[in-house]
Amino acid sequence: MKPVAWITGAGGLVGSYLVRTASRWAPAWDVRGLTRQDVDLTDEAAVRRLWQEHQPAAVIHCAAISRPAVCEQNPELARQVNVEATTHLALLASEVPLLFFSSDQVFDGRQGRYVETDRINPINRYGETKAVAEEFVLSNPRHTVIRLALTAGTSATGDRSFVEDMRRSVAANLGLILFTDEFRSPVPAGVVARAVWELIAQKHSGLYHLGGTERLSRMEIGEALATWYPELASRLQPGLVAAYPGPPRPPDLSMRCEKLQRLLPFPIPGFRSWLMNRTTVGIDVWDYPLT
Ligand SMILES: NC(=O)c1ccc[n+]([C@@H]2O[C@H](COP(=O)([O-])OP(=O)(O)OC[C@H]3O[C@@H](n4cnc5c(N)ncnc54)[C@H](OP(=O)(O)O)[C@@H]3O)[C@@H](O)[C@H]2O)c1
Repeated sequence: MKPVAWITGAGGLVGSYLVRTASRWAPAWDVRGLTRQDVDLTDEAAVRRLWQEHQPAAVIHCAAISRPAVCEQNPELARQVNVEATTHLALLASEVPLLFFSSDQVFDGRQGRYVETDRINPINRYGETKAVAEEFVLSNPRHTVIRLALTAGTSATGDRSFVEDMRRSVAANLGLILFTDEFRSPVPAGVVARAVWELIAQKHSGLYHLGGTERLSRMEIGEALATWYPELASRLQPGLVAAYPGPPRPPDLSMRCEKLQRLLPFPIPGFRSWLMNRTTVGIDVWDYPLT
């Protein structure tokens, strides 16, 4: 019998890539992808019952309130899911490896090219919940935190990744203003899935950054995407985050990932070079290639 690995948030972007790639990258595991329909993670009694039934030997915790705007609108929900449900899972999993996804949004974005030892200083509620949860998770030396960058991928619901957001905006004839002075290090979801399965196999714990190796402005990200999604090309409009009237946004959340790279048997790609080097037709451009 194979040991059971739980993937929470299996209906979401990252969780669905992990479930989909498990047969290739994690054949030693009996992977159970948990969606909200299987269990509401804020229902501690239900989670405990399912834990006793499945007795997982590893947990990859992807479930979250992952949209910063939703966290601002509903901070109590953000706290319940991102902090309390995570804390509860980490306690249940105290004897087994647990991998929790934090975010580049734990930083304030004033510096950029962040490494794991840089000081965190979230400027929004989403980042605050992640900062609290990651500290608790890391108090167990068996556990792992990945601070994830903006992740590109496709989802069954078509409304999960920033790529899907951009394509939906264009399809709905909405403007696509992309900041030339806001920087990220985006990464394909297939790369995230492969790296996570590798970390699980190698039994590494601790704190790691995971993003693409290229620091790109939002506009450069849009231009790179337009090579694969030509409908975007004529719709990209440059803008300045400095002139943005909404709530403050971290200007530069690019991260450096050398700590994780040293453990991986494949190079973490840059976002633009990933797209330039892909020739695959018919399968998801964001999947890690099979050859
Ligand atoms: N995607 C990115 O660009 C990115 C960047 C940095 C960090 N992260 C982090 O990486 C992780 C995975 O992100 P993602 O993009 O895959 O997020 P996602 O697409 O929003 O998926 C999160 C999943 O969590 C589920 N969920 C929320 N509350 C729940 C609850 N109470 N009980 C059970 N399930 C619940 C959601 O269910 P429903 O589908 O029913 O809502 C959803 O399927 C998250 O921790 C996120 O914060 C993501």
